[in-house]
Amino acid sequence: MKKQFPENFWWGAATSGPQSEGRFNKQHASVFDHWYEVEPEAFYDQVGPDTASNFYNSFKEDIALMKEVGLNSVRTSIQWSRLIDDFETASLNPDGVRFYNDLIDEFIRQGIRPVINLHHFDIPVALYQQYGGWESKHVVTLFVKFAEQCFNLFGDRVTDWFTFNEPMVVVDGQYLYQFHYPKLVDGKKAVQVAYNIQLASAKTIQAFRRIKQQPASRIGIILNLTPSYPATNEAADLKAAEIANLWMNQLFMDPSTKGTFPPALVELLAADGVLWDSTPEELAIIKDNTIDVLGVNFYHPHRVQQPAVSADSLAVDWMPSRYFEEYHMPGRRMNVDKGWEIYPQALYDIALNIRDNYGNLPWFVSENGMGVSREERFLNQAGVIEDDYRIQFIQEHLYWLEKGISEGSNCFGYHLWTPLDCWSWGNAYRNRYGLIATNIHTQVKTIKKSGHWFAKTAQANQVEI
Ligand code: NOJ
Repeated sequence: MKKQFPENFWWGAATSGPQSEGRFNKQHASVFDHWYEVEPEAFYDQVGPDTASNFYNSFKEDIALMKEVGLNSVRTSIQWSRLIDDFETASLNPDGVRFYNDLIDEFIRQGIRPVINLHHFDIPVALYQQYGGWESKHVVTLFVKFAEQCFNLFGDRVTDWFTFNEPMVVVDGQYLYQFHYPKLVDGKKAVQVAYNIQLASAKTIQAFRRIKQQPASRIGIILNLTPSYPATNEAADLKAAEIANLWMNQLFMDPSTKGTFPPALVELLAADGVLWDSTPEELAIIKDNTIDVLGVNFYHPHRVQQPAVSADSLAVDWMPSRYFEEYHMPGRRMNVDKGWEIYPQALYDIALNIRDNYGNLPWFVSENGMGVSREERFLNQAGVIEDDYRIQFIQEHLYWLEKGISEGSNCFGYHLWTPLDCWSWGNAYRNRYGLIATNIHTQVKTIKKSGHWFAKTAQANQVEI
């Protein structure tokens, strides 16, 4: 069966500055650079972000490989801690400016659309140490200054901008579930951080509209939207799924697209005494500065149930998980390495949800992919990784995505995570996702079987299943 995609479809892949560039020539440390300095054992095999995929040094050759695997668009991010010297004034670091100019020019020279994101979990650690990072509204102001520099410097060539990648992961990782530095558990701060990031996104969009250089330029946010399906049809599980959707999906989706936070979530947070501090002026900025386009990162669905322990009996700090709990549905297909369920149909559900409940706004899959460990197991005689599992994973997701598009969802592209195997936070290089393998000892890069397959698929603008 062949499934045809719309004209000018984005066949691309996504990475980020902190995960690909390496720390070369950086004046400042991001929160992750710092975390690795102080606690290397928190990272798989004690591998930090110092070299990553060496993209800072080898981006020209790497982009040539990206071209070879058929990509017509690539997302990466500009590191705040590389571009800016003085965060208060947003003065520029000359090498940072040179690097991102050269990088953007090279993408364009090789016929790849550069898609630029401004925050990929990588706040400069100095802003964390001085102000508490996203807990502070002053940091919101500083972020907008950084963003303005980016729009002014690169907006003559870059038309597709994103403010934040997966803001929920900052909230969850830094403030609730302890998988990102500084691993706090503080529900009140978590909620304020969520609000402040939403405010920063809206203020950045406001600045973008003031200074954008090309009429066709557009801006959005990248959200890890994951439908939460109830474990059963019992009222308690339905309620758990409703609250999980409110917290995990609608918290950023609603204000980013409609300009307002979901009232049911605001009520719940207020009743629990953890609602954010906001002002009418800020809420008006959020209301007036919604996105033009949406990026959706999708890896796996959530199945949720009512928690075993009732909310009232929890003597701990406020946690959204007091209202819902992950449920592992027996018999589902799993990605064993990640412990994640494989459920491509969720992409169709997302497509229809955007069509029906979010004004059918333009969107694209900004990340989807399959992480697998020890991929050298699958090396063939010719030295190519035969990652048929990845091909199948992509095929199935494209199948459901196309079904959503053919039923009217306004999706204009698919970006795989990721072009080159790259460094992935605490997991470092444990799970590989790339179309192109990176040997982390020699930095030699080799196209995988999936890369050759992706090139053909992109070229034909259709997936064969
Ligand atoms: C989502 C994040 O945006 C990215 O940074 C990460 O490496 C991938 N998921 C894979 O886990």
